[in-house]
Amino acid sequence: MGITIKDNITWVGKIDWELRKFHGEEYSTHRGSSYNSYLVRDEKTVLIDTVWKPFTNEFIENLKKEIDLTKIDFIIASHAESDHSGALPELMRLIPDTPIYCTANAVKSLKGHYHQDWNFRTVKTGDRLNIGSKELIFIEAPMLHWPDSMFSYLTGDNVLFSNDAFGQHYATEHLFNDLVDQAELFQECLKYYANILTPFSALVDRKIKEVVGFGLPVDMICTSHGVIWRDNPLQIVTKYAEWAANYRENQVTIIYDTMWDGTRKMAEAIAGGILQADPDVTVKLYNAARTDKNDIITEVFKSKAILVGSPTINRGILSAIAGILEEIRGLGFKDKKAAAFGSYGWSGESVTMITERLREGGFTLVSDGMKEVWNPDEEGLVNCVSFGRGFGQQLK
Ligand code: FEO
Repeated sequence: MGITIKDNITWVGKIDWELRKFHGEEYSTHRGSSYNSYLVRDEKTVLIDTVWKPFTNEFIENLKKEIDLTKIDFIIASHAESDHSGALPELMRLIPDTPIYCTANAVKSLKGHYHQDWNFRTVKTGDRLNIGSKELIFIEAPMLHWPDSMFSYLTGDNVLFSNDAFGQHYATEHLFNDLVDQAELFQECLKYYANILTPFSALVDRKIKEVVGFGLPVDMICTSHGVIWRDNPLQIVTKYAEWAANYRENQVTIIYDTMWDGTRKMAEAIAGGILQADPDVTVKLYNAARTDKNDIITEVFKSKAILVGSPTINRGILSAIAGILEEIRGLGFKDKKAAAFGSYGWSGESVTMITERLREGGFTLVSDGMKEVWNPDEEGLVNCVSFGRGFGQQLK
């Protein structure tokens, strides 16, 4: 059954407690997720988004308990990604003529997904849909998270339906931001931003200024994943503004992989050196082969600098490091420093390769990196500590 959000707004989505991977295998969801869908009732009834395809039948059956489907006057498709549009084909089979309000890009992406010529009504920023005593105002939000995304603002109730923006992959029966564990909630918000929205930070910043510029009061933000922000809803908007401004904490993250412990010992010695330079800095070490990559990306997002280490293998680097470096490059982090390190036996290309990839990823290289032959001996470890100390001093 649906959950009442306000007298005239009912949540009709699906909480997915089992989800552990999203976007195929790309994004880990340790705490599940939800696909939030909303029924807005006035003189007209509006359905905002649907759910992921595997939950289509459940969604439709629950929706039928809330409303005679033929009484749905309008559907809003905020974004065509299938976690929100997956149940549309079946819904449209049942109520085929219902108009679907969406952006021009969403017409393309919905047609691209489902190859159906539904009754699309294309909207742009500022367009309004009268639903009786209130209106829905549409705000295009390209790249939050796809070029087709848009927000809808409900006048009278002052509710912003933000789709992916301000969401989190977080399953909870409580649905409201003030009813859940705050540390868990903000951890999932940060992970979501770091892994999905980092490349679009400039657009996030512009969109926030645009929405704030409209001067519309916001009493509630209804996202498409995770909690509904009803207690101080603008707190997540403030966080997004901070995160979009090349966010950094006083943290250094060391990411490495190792074959016979040489590069691991280097990582630990370098960490000790960084702490000698600045005892207040947080230093975190992650073996990339043993750590969830999205969790590593979240730590990179929080860091002012990173160090990446791999031994040399086959004149290259270990595959876990190659993978995380590709992930880091694609996200386009800004204003972060970096250096490479690694042990080697014969040829020793790893440090140069990592350095080059970090440079391609937009990091400022603060040194040419640090190499140690074989497993570092006591002198080698002293050199690593010294390298770490030098690295730490350059971050001040
Ligand atoms: Fe939740 Fe971009 O889909």
